[in-house]
Amino acid sequence: MMNPIPVIAIDGPTASGKGTVAQRVAQELGFACLDSGALYRVVGLLALEQGVGLDDGPALAAVADAITTAEDPAMRLRFADGRILLGTRDITEAIRREEVGRAASRIATAGELRAALLALQRAQRRPPGLVADGRDMGTVVFPDACLKVFLIADVRVRAERRYKQLIEKGYPGTLESLLRDLEERDARDRTRDRAPLVAADGAKILDSTAMTIDAVVAQVLGWYRAG
Ligand code: DC
Repeated sequence: MMNPIPVIAIDGPTASGKGTVAQRVAQELGFACLDSGALYRVVGLLALEQGVGLDDGPALAAVADAITTAEDPAMRLRFADGRILLGTRDITEAIRREEVGRAASRIATAGELRAALLALQRAQRRPPGLVADGRDMGTVVFPDACLKVFLIADVRVRAERRYKQLIEKGYPGTLESLLRDLEERDARDRTRDRAPLVAADGAKILDSTAMTIDAVVAQVLGWYRAG
């Protein structure tokens, strides 16, 4: 049976602005928002902390199961008021670190982990609607999304945007190392066997290289309302 709850899927490479756009579109429509990358980042953070091998699919799936079924209260994953909590520990900032993003991209190649996170992602679909951002929202997780957007931007512009964010937060780093890092992550996300980063059939491709966030948000809302 067709699911009547609308989903807007926004996929794209690292630092394409999809997270900000998804949040703004969700706010505008009064929809819930799913940042699927945050789930991979949480598992990446825990894998680094617990010494779980980044290519150990079954062990990574066990970490995902632990945070989603959460028999242990200290492992319970919650999203509250824009914060991401693991038990009582606030990991909102910790998961944004570049090393965690790198680990997330590596573990995301594991099919066992992707399968373990599927139900949790689909459970976020609730009335009046959901805006979901990631790599495989339109292809795998919500293939019946009513609007699929593939958000791209020139890699140099993405590196500059990310660099500015990091500097504002007081994190160290150079533009050149960030650029190399983004290129490496893009290549891995695009070429992996499981749920690679590709535009879904019927996705609208939006190149934000020369666009403001406001213009991107307006375009997505325009497509949704026209649909
Ligand atoms: O969107 P992000 O940079 O927070 O995502 C971090 C990593 O997680 C990304 O490099 C690949 C992985 N990811 C994924 O495989 N599938 C998703 N739907 C979202 C993220």
